[in-house]
Amino acid sequence: MCGIIGYIGDKKTSDILIDGLKRLEYRGYDSCGIAVINGVGGLYLKRVSGRVDALDALAASDPVKGARAGIGHTRWATHGAPSEDNAHPHTDCSGSVVVVHNGIIENYLELKEILLKAGHKFKSETDTEVIVHLLEEKLKNLDVAEKNARQAMLEPVFFEAVRRTIADLKGAFALAAAWAKCPAILLAARQHSPLVAGLGEGENFIASDVSAFLKHTKRVVFLNDGEIAAVKKEGVTFFDFKGRKLERESIVIQWDSTMAEKGGYKHFMLKEIHEQPEAVEDTLRGRLLPISGELLEREINLPLELIKKFKRLQVIACGTAYHAGLVARYVFENFGMPTEVDFASEFSDRAKITDKDTLVIAISQSGETADTLHASREAKVSGAKVLAITNTVGSTLTREADFVLYTHCGPEIGVASTKAFMGQLAAVYLLGVHFATARKKLALAEARTYAEELLKLPRLAEELFLSEKSIAAMAGACAGSEHFLFIARHINFPIALEGALKIKEISYVHAEGYAAGEMKHGPIAIIDKGMPVLAVATTSKAISLMAGNIEEAKARGARVIAIVDEDSRKLIKAADYIQVPKTMELLSPMLNVIPLQLFAYYVALAKKCDIDKPRNLAKSVTVR
Ligand code: F6R
Repeated sequence: MCGIIGYIGDKKTSDILIDGLKRLEYRGYDSCGIAVINGVGGLYLKRVSGRVDALDALAASDPVKGARAGIGHTRWATHGAPSEDNAHPHTDCSGSVVVVHNGIIENYLELKEILLKAGHKFKSETDTEVIVHLLEEKLKNLDVAEKNARQAMLEPVFFEAVRRTIADLKGAFALAAAWAKCPAILLAARQHSPLVAGLGEGENFIASDVSAFLKHTKRVVFLNDGEIAAVKKEGVTFFDFKGRKLERESIVIQWDSTMAEKGGYKHFMLKEIHEQPEAVEDTLRGRLLPISGELLEREINLPLELIKKFKRLQVIACGTAYHAGLVARYVFENFGMPTEVDFASEFSDRAKITDKDTLVIAISQSGETADTLHASREAKVSGAKVLAITNTVGSTLTREADFVLYTHCGPEIGVASTKAFMGQLAAVYLLGVHFATARKKLALAEARTYAEELLKLPRLAEELFLSEKSIAAMAGACAGSEHFLFIARHINFPIALEGALKIKEISYVHAEGYAAGEMKHGPIAIIDKGMPVLAVATTSKAISLMAGNIEEAKARGARVIAIVDEDSRKLIKAADYIQVPKTMELLSPMLNVIPLQLFAYYVALAKKCDIDKPRNLAKSVTVR
């Protein structure tokens, strides 16, 4: 998830781009850059590793005058570490074509190989750079027209080159391209990543979202997948990927810029809950072998020999990431791999039983959590190899771990983790299936079945949001309670823990997550009349035991809200139900957690809590 902006008009382009990038920083902030076209043939390019303020200072020290068009980008790394070389915009070999991109190009390695053979020189490790070289290649092939052309005639050439370029791309992209020889037009295209055109008076914009240009215009057209925008000073024209002109109506946005950053949601947390289908899609995108559904080896670079030989897995993590680790234990054990899970803070300073036969998996959204870093350093000293699952390219954990598997969730702004957890779960399933097939615990046909089910989850998660209103109503009705209990069994037990953690963090009430089977060994004593008990009771091997636990809670006066699927609903008697779409039991945590996140959100909303910045908490805990 990166932020892109393009501008064409009479104002000082670099200022407009930099101001827009500041507003897009919530989409990514590890590096940034702008390219402005300075008269025919002139290209002014400034990029920095770091935040937009640094870019602003750099541009101020070397200002550019007279430019009327340009593009800019703020990056959240997916391919290649955060660095100036990997920062966008990227240029072709001639230095006259520039591209910014948000998304993931699945076939970039194949394209890169072809382009390298054709003599292109690459300067970055990004997937994006293939786009600009491909565009250069397409422009070369359209050379005849270019030689004969006057300025205005170059525009159709540029358009056709962009159109042919995107026809070769697989994956997700929102991109904007500029060509110094053709300064009166910017071209932008969308496929699975957001893009919106801003229509001004004698100036026009293209951006990842409206916050980038809202102070200049509120009249916009949201591009659909498969559309191209030709942005000129006089107006914006829309086309499909076949080059056919489209009629698009503009709308007037009523949001202010803070609302726009949140995509119209009241809080980043709610926006991020809704971004989870995309987080799963992006974490899986381009990483599975088409035939068997296995994880591509290049995504992790963990030698097969090592996968075959480790004797046990040890997961270390904190907070929500620890809950992903608990799910991981069920997944790995399901495939016959002995697995321990520890809070990183508890693993540290304890006598170690990890050794060279252990693969340690450190899970951390930020890659900067002090406890997780400390524990993974200790694990390395004990002789173990460390594999990091993280969302943050270039973080300390990625530099220190032996191997890394990235989640591709984009920056998470809300302090309470939601979409990062979802990405961690997706990564855990990818690893589980990959290890199990490598260790011959899973036949390729079975691996494929898991992959197919995983790929369905984003759509099923979307379906789940149809229940959001009724979840909000249930949460509102319970918001006065001071105690909440979350119960579940087996692979959903970590989801009960996560549901309780979410509500504690943002509503400041007492909530406990418990293994349902443990209830009668003590905790059932706390249940009294009207206490909300959220019971995860989707179809599983333990569903009849779970039904019994729900009866026990009801008998003590609990108000049970059961998370069920179509089949388990018939077996459960509860005061309220939240029905989730059905998936395999092993994958069910990825759907079951969503209603609990929403429930926690709406309880906090009813209590008027500061949801994105809960008291006493920090997004990244960098002290032990
Ligand atoms: C809870 C939450 C925290 C983090 C924990 C680990 O909503 O956000 O519990 O999960 O601090 O953070 P990372 O994953 O960055 O190591």
